[in-house]
Amino acid sequence: MRPPGRPALALPLPLLLLPLLPAPRPAARFHPTWESLDARPLPAWFDQAKVGIFVHWGVFSVPSFGSEWFWWYWQQEKIPKFVDFMKNNYPPDFKYGDFGPLFTAKFFNASQWADIFQASGAKYVVLTSKHHEGFTLWGSEYSWNWNAVDEGPKRDIVKELELAVRNRTNLRFGLYYSLFEWFHPLFLKDKFSSFHKRQFPVSKTLPELYELVNEYRPEVVWSDGDGGAPDAYWNSTGFLAWLYNESPVRDTVVTNDRWGAGTICKHGGYYTCSDRYNPGHLLPHKWENCMTIDKFSWGYRRDAGISDYFTIEELVKQLVETVSCGGNLLMNIGPTRDGTISAVFEERLRQMGTWLKVNGEAIYETHTWRSQNDTITPDVWYTSKPKENLVYAMFLKWPTSRQLFLGQPKATLGATEVKLLGHGEPLNWIPCKQNGMMVELPRLTFSQMPCKWGWTLALTNVT
Ligand SMILES: *[C@@H]1O[C@H](CO)[C@@H](O)[C@H](O)[C@H]1NC(C)=O
Ligand SMILES: *[C@@H]1O[C@H](CO)[C@@H](O)[C@H](O)[C@H]1NC(C)=O
Ligand SMILES: *[C@@H]1O[C@H](CO)[C@@H](O)[C@H](O)[C@H]1NC(C)=O
Ligand SMILES: *[C@@H]1O[C@H](CO)[C@@H](O)[C@H](O)[C@H]1NC(C)=O
Repeated sequence: MRPPGRPALALPLPLLLLPLLPAPRPAARFHPTWESLDARPLPAWFDQAKVGIFVHWGVFSVPSFGSEWFWWYWQQEKIPKFVDFMKNNYPPDFKYGDFGPLFTAKFFNASQWADIFQASGAKYVVLTSKHHEGFTLWGSEYSWNWNAVDEGPKRDIVKELELAVRNRTNLRFGLYYSLFEWFHPLFLKDKFSSFHKRQFPVSKTLPELYELVNEYRPEVVWSDGDGGAPDAYWNSTGFLAWLYNESPVRDTVVTNDRWGAGTICKHGGYYTCSDRYNPGHLLPHKWENCMTIDKFSWGYRRDAGISDYFTIEELVKQLVETVSCGGNLLMNIGPTRDGTISAVFEERLRQMGTWLKVNGEAIYETHTWRSQNDTITPDVWYTSKPKENLVYAMFLKWPTSRQLFLGQPKATLGATEVKLLGHGEPLNWIPCKQNGMMVELPRLTFSQMPCKWGWTLALTNVT
């Protein structure tokens, strides 16, 4: 039935246009099961990015001694080195909480950090919004007096870094978040009940995770620290279904695999498998090598010597191995309690940036090749860009003979072209008797070298 006197076909214009409006988003594409969540395609930006920076910062940066696990080693494991450090340097009744006010972040300038991150060539950054100590770097509603707005810096560190990274750089902004807290009374109570009680995740972890995502829109949610509890205790699948279906970052967010005991290397987004994971072979699932420039600690250590830090040659090696095998490299730095990035970390990051300026073509947005490393010459690692018919051979030792033997590429006379990135001139090469090719590297003086810690040959038309 329609009102009388109105012609049937003359619909008002807005109604005719309705079908052209975007359809409402289908609700609940993902269900709170691993089967459904694991099937979500990883947003493409992550695999293209290849390089990220990890930042471990918190109250542990105040003692800045030994490890970011300071509190645990001192009071739980009572490791003599840590117990003695406290005995020798602090009054007898000094508690870990007393470090809170000393976390001043006096010189913290998020814009400066952002500029260093940009110069490093990294494409994303992941900040510890809360480590196992429980101190939140934002003014969490659920972390009374143990957060950076009420205590220590009296600033919203997460917001400042988020704005600086988003305003000044083209890096994606990500957040690390520890599910459990070593000494939180509710967590300990739940643990005592063998995780049948769920007071801690319901009143602390989950509200904080929702708050973090809604407030800071991280595009990486880097979960850690299951505390031995299963994912059902954390309600990880419930949170992830919300993250993927409804959250403000549902289309671009990536997550890792640390969502409860037994999920690592098995469920979630990309795999991290273990700290410093670098398998040396291709994996069928996207993965990330999270490692730290200080070989022994993620948090800043005043007791670190220069040999405790990876050299730029070692970092470049990590990067090319990782990317050739399908991984991303997440390189960690530990800022000081003052909020400065120590000169050694800054130098490594800037060095990586200068290396990537020349060789980034062989890293960003590349694919793995049929072979990850060479069969004749050690320390040669391959990536590829199939659409452009390019294979990249990254090599870490410049042969004294200037002859680089590559066992894997099948080259064709008249079709194959070889160039050194940052040099540009086509290089001479000849096919080898058995298989592969020998490339004659250019005669370059030290100052003519396009870079000094590893080089890349771009091979066009090889199979
Ligand atoms: C923070 O760093 C930026 C970039 O180096 C600089 O322009 C700005 O003046 C600094 N702000 C303060 C308060 O020092
Ligand atoms: C970043 O940009 C926003 C929006 O333009 C502005 O309000 C804010 O002050 C900027 N923050 C920084 C740290 O540059
Ligand atoms: C888990 O999270 C989902 C999504 O927020 C929620 O609907 C569900 O009630 C939660 N389950 C438990 C057991 O907490
Ligand atoms: C590289 O290639 C060689 C020869 O094919 C192989 O034996 C080796 O395991 C590979 N991986 C690494 C990490 O060198």
